[in-house]
Amino acid sequence: MTAPGHAGDQRLAALTEQVVASFAGASSPRYRTVMQSLVRHLHAFLAETSITEREWEQGIEFLTRAGHITDDKRQEFILLSDVLGASMATIAINHPGTDLGVTESTVLGPFFADASPRAGLGDDISGGAVGQPCYASGTVRDVAGRPVPGARIEIWEADADGFYDVQRAGGPVANRAHLFTDDQGGYRFWSVRPAPYPIPHDGPVGDLLTAAARGPMRPAHIHFMVSADGYQRLTTHVFADGDPYLGQDAVFGVKPSLIRTFARHPAGVGPGGRVLDTEWSDVEFDLVLSPNRPA
Ligand SMILES: [Fe+2]
Repeated sequence: MTAPGHAGDQRLAALTEQVVASFAGASSPRYRTVMQSLVRHLHAFLAETSITEREWEQGIEFLTRAGHITDDKRQEFILLSDVLGASMATIAINHPGTDLGVTESTVLGPFFADASPRAGLGDDISGGAVGQPCYASGTVRDVAGRPVPGARIEIWEADADGFYDVQRAGGPVANRAHLFTDDQGGYRFWSVRPAPYPIPHDGPVGDLLTAAARGPMRPAHIHFMVSADGYQRLTTHVFADGDPYLGQDAVFGVKPSLIRTFARHPAGVGPGGRVLDTEWSDVEFDLVLSPNRPA
């Protein structure tokens, strides 16, 4: 197809303005702003690519497939947002970073689940998940270095085979819990050493990656979400140093400040007096929260 001529350009411009104007009466100014911008950019995208009718149908078929594969365990739209870099772009806009040492944010991903079980400090949250034992610990502090006691930390992680518990139909809750920091802002728990894993790529997002000759792998990580009164909620990961996929994360989530060494230890006695009959690992990951924005 050829690009529209002058008359076509004028018709498209008039159409765009007509659609933009159709949102002028929205009662929410923010809704009006967002939708009018969306329409302008969408129309500009269609014009720039001289989209064909067949291509537009294919786009609608893609989104239809994404909808059909999505349920309460599978979230294809978060995957789509992630692989297009839209999740990380939204984080960059909303957490531009400070000089105050606040822990950087990264993607939520599609595997967070509400209502995780509560764990005590030092508990093993693996729930029988396959993998080598791994002890994680650290402190939650504010930007002045003061401990944040009572902070709620949500933790979730894939097992050594690369699967989250929610991907194993009918399986137990595993590698997933929440706990609260102690009076010194400290936390600690046992889980399993994280492994790299592919994002689910048996659906439309997988086809998108294949068509782009992109891989589905994510480097090994543990998810953290930290919330405490008076602070912005922090959604982040700790990544394992030396992982071969750190430079090619399928969802662009790696930030160098979030990489830590997961040190390996021989069988023996570990933290808390735990007796380990296999190699095990530990990692320290301190977290710094940003104060709430002024209202
Ligand atoms: Fe993950």
